[in-house]
Order: sequence, then structure tokens, then C-alpha cells
Amino acid sequence: MPKESEGVQDLTKLYTSDTCVKYYEELMQKSLLVERCEIGGKYCEKYLVPIFKKWAEQLKKPLNFADLLCCYGNDTLAYAYGYYQKDFAETWSSDDLCYNLVKPRQFPVKTLGIDRSENALKFAKKAGIMDETEKIDFNNMTDSDKTILQQHLKCTNILYMNSMAALDDGIVEQIIEWFSQGTEPGMLMIGFIYPHDGVERMNMWKQLMLTKFDFLASVPSANRTLYEHEGQVLGPKHGIWDRTYYEMWYLTRKVDLGQK
Ligand SMILES: C[S@@+](CC[C@H](N)C(=O)[O-])C[C@H]1O[C@@H](n2cnc3c(N)ncnc32)[C@H](O)[C@@H]1O
Repeated sequence: MPKESEGVQDLTKLYTSDTCVKYYEELMQKSLLVERCEIGGKYCEKYLVPIFKKWAEQLKKPLNFADLLCCYGNDTLAYAYGYYQKDFAETWSSDDLCYNLVKPRQFPVKTLGIDRSENALKFAKKAGIMDETEKIDFNNMTDSDKTILQQHLKCTNILYMNSMAALDDGIVEQIIEWFSQGTEPGMLMIGFIYPHDGVERMNMWKQLMLTKFDFLASVPSANRTLYEHEGQVLGPKHGIWDRTYYEMWYLTRKVDLGQK
């Protein structure tokens, strides 16, 4: 864990409930995380979905979308389904409705969610958000986990990842390397949480990504609001008292430019 994550509230309870409802209420609604889901969803709808449709047409098959540290699948809903705040509010706020999907997928795509929370993955699969799931603890991977992850990443066309503050040094680098080994068109969509992911680590990952992928775009937004004690730790050091910040980077695999 980077030093910028010291004093961060432990939210494990929200990640391990049977359904997404507590996660939605506490993190997405009360802490405003849902705003950045809508920013990402709208950006994707306008600028990325046309690219994904073209790739699927060229490949004559649905694209493989992998969401790492996916929890209940809110980012997959934003990017693959075009979910806005109102769509989450309609279903994710109630145990009765949370298995209903109110929008279809926006392009031909198969979804895979990877996380260490068994309950979150069970929910995402049952709700139909994820076609497939893998329970992996990225900080404690067995040889078999490594083989499974490498295989998936090489076949993935769209890789979404954030929450890197939770990951030990060297893990993000390995994921970037395995994803870069794929030979089909591919987009790396990576969300940096400032400063939680670690100020120096973020810069190092960005430099690494720029050596292995083509930069496409970046989009700024805001991450969740901070608990008071978190602000007291981060404020004096970084000037961040109320909210962490979120920076999305979109990069493409170095394959034939005609396929972008
Ligand atoms: C804030 S949620 C992220 C959900 C979604 N991507 C988002 O940002 O809104 C963080 C997720 O990381 C998962 N997680 C934390 N440490 C992990 C690890 N070492 N291996 C796998 N998953 C982990 C948690 O179980 C949780 O589901």
C-alpha cells in the first residue's frame, strides 16, 4: 500500500455484502462516487463506443471486456452499458430491484469481472453484469492465478482497472505487461486516484504505459468524498481535504492503426 493511503477508511464491509445496495448507498450515493461513473459512461458512449463497434465488426466477434477489482461491477455498467446516475438509482438502491438491468450492452461484448470478494462476484454474475468471474487476490496470487490472469489479459480487448492503492508494488506493472502481449485491438482504461494510488507510483505507471501503448485520451473527474480523518491526514500534505481526484487514461495496443 502506498504511503498516500495511510489513514484511509477500511471499506471492506461494503465490498463483501450479498448485494450492491450498501456499496451504492454509502460509497456511490453518499460519497458521490456515482458522479465519476456517469462522466466515464458518457465519455465512453460518445468517444469510445464507435471504436469498439468498429473493432467488433473487424474481428467478427464480441469484444472481451475485463474489469479488474470490479467489486459489484459499477464500472462495467458505466462503460459497457452506458449507466448514468439515474440508472444506478433506479436499481442499485434496493435489494428487490438490484438484479434488474435497465439498459442493454452498448456494443457486442463479453464481460469478465475479477476481484477477491466472492460475494461481489456472485452478485455481478447473478445480475448478468458479468458473464464470467474469477476470484483472485492480486497481492497473493498462486501460480494457477497467474496463469489464469495472463491468459485472460492476452485475450482481453478492453481492460478497465482502478483502485490500485490496494495493490502491492509490481502488480500493476505485471498486469500492464500481460495485457500488452495481446495481438488483437485493445484498449487499456485505467483510473488513477490522486493521491491514494501513490504520487510516485502513478507517474511510474504512466511512463511504463507510454512505452507499451499508444496514448489516446485522458479525462479528469472527482473520486469519492473523504471521511473527516482522511482529510486530516491528506490535507496538510497534499491540500486535499474533502475529496480525492480521479484521472482516467485511455491507451490502445500497438496494433495496426487502421483498426482503431
Ligand atoms: C472501490 S472497489 C472498486 C470498484 C470499482 N472498480 C470502482 O472503483 O468503483 C475496490 C475493490 O477492490 C477489491 N480489492 C481490494 N484489494 C484487492 C486485492 N488484493 N485483490 C483483488 N481485489 C481487491 C475489493 O474487494 C473491492 O471490490
